[in-house]
Amino acid sequence: MKKKFLSLGRQPFANKYQSIQDKYKKKEQFYDLQVGFDTKTKLVSILKTVPSKKMFDKNYPYRSSMSKTMLWSFKKFSQFVKRKFKPELFLEIGSNDGSLIKNFKKEKAICVEPCANHAKITKKMGYRTYQFYWNMNLAKKIKKTHGEVNCIYSANTITHIHDLDQVLKSINYILSNDGILIIEDPSLLECIKIGSYDQFYNEHIHIFSLISLKNVLNKHKLEIFNVKKLFTHGGSLRYFIKRKKNKKIRINKSVKKQFIKEKKFGIDKFKIFKKFSTRVNSSKHKLRKILVRLKNSKKKIIGYGATAKSVTILNYCKIDKNLIDYFVDTTPDKIDKYIPGTNIIIKKYKKNSLKNIDYAFLGAWNFKKEIFKKEKKFLNKGCKFITHVPYPKIL
Ligand code: TYD
Repeated sequence: MKKKFLSLGRQPFANKYQSIQDKYKKKEQFYDLQVGFDTKTKLVSILKTVPSKKMFDKNYPYRSSMSKTMLWSFKKFSQFVKRKFKPELFLEIGSNDGSLIKNFKKEKAICVEPCANHAKITKKMGYRTYQFYWNMNLAKKIKKTHGEVNCIYSANTITHIHDLDQVLKSINYILSNDGILIIEDPSLLECIKIGSYDQFYNEHIHIFSLISLKNVLNKHKLEIFNVKKLFTHGGSLRYFIKRKKNKKIRINKSVKKQFIKEKKFGIDKFKIFKKFSTRVNSSKHKLRKILVRLKNSKKKIIGYGATAKSVTILNYCKIDKNLIDYFVDTTPDKIDKYIPGTNIIIKKYKKNSLKNIDYAFLGAWNFKKEIFKKEKKFLNKGCKFITHVPYPKIL
């Protein structure tokens, strides 16, 4: 049974940025953002989903290569995988713009990416790229052409797919008996701990805890044998998964450690989420209060990093251009477009974007370290960042 614990209101599709021309011509699509807890599997998911085809298309703007932190994390990871697992054939589900796959040899790698704009990039780089959504038909097609795969990797993608049983069935079909599956996604424990309710939006259909993922995998005779904490996306977990019948790989103690940590926190209990919901409501009022106060004292406020996550915050907190003049972002496809559901425009990031700015709302709070380093000069001159995690404050 799925029990609702959070309502974030009527929300636009997070990565659908409208140009100035389209804004008043094309009607924006909205959905009701509600989050629930499955009492059986302990899985946290949004309750009303949007079809994949409406989200991941040829104009999908998100590019992993926009952050040095992500590129560095992918590079380190690929070195580790090659050393530890020596993959014969490495399959990436959701290869985006090739930020990870570029660390692997072309003849040993396969990309799966439904968004045509990104698939085009990895094709151009010379990688075998299947421009499809991950499902059984595709798994059959790949297995027929290339045989079984002994290493499957997927970052921030599996949680974007509604039917997890179908995903795992297709993975089971193509994975060799001693093969491994590695997935990484934001950690529910971190999300709840730091109050990052902006992790909830139409693309993030599920937010995994180790406990819920364990339950979902169990049905498919798969198990987690190692788990690593990552600093990406505000705190993620990288899960290493194998077939239960594969006894050659031992279960690392990190799995039990994370399990106990989550149990102690109560991530498998509904009452934690009810508490979280109250905190989110108070976060909304606090953030608005800070922005209104600064605006009333004639401060210039912009947004920094037009993340998909920010869409949830701005729409839930009813923040418009009366409070935040505009956002700056490095992603080419977001420039001169509106933040979904708002009248706030995104401008191209420039080295002096923070010149004469009093405050910048940190949309990309998950890259705080990288951004603070980059903007040291302006921070020293008095420009300040505003964040909503772990609670709304001026940094
Ligand atoms: P990200 O937090 O990865 O994801 P999501 O959109 O899924 O919430 O997005 C980071 C955004 O911030 C992306 O649009 C690029 C932008 N960005 C900057 O503009 N400057 C920076 O220095 C960094 C690190 C990111």
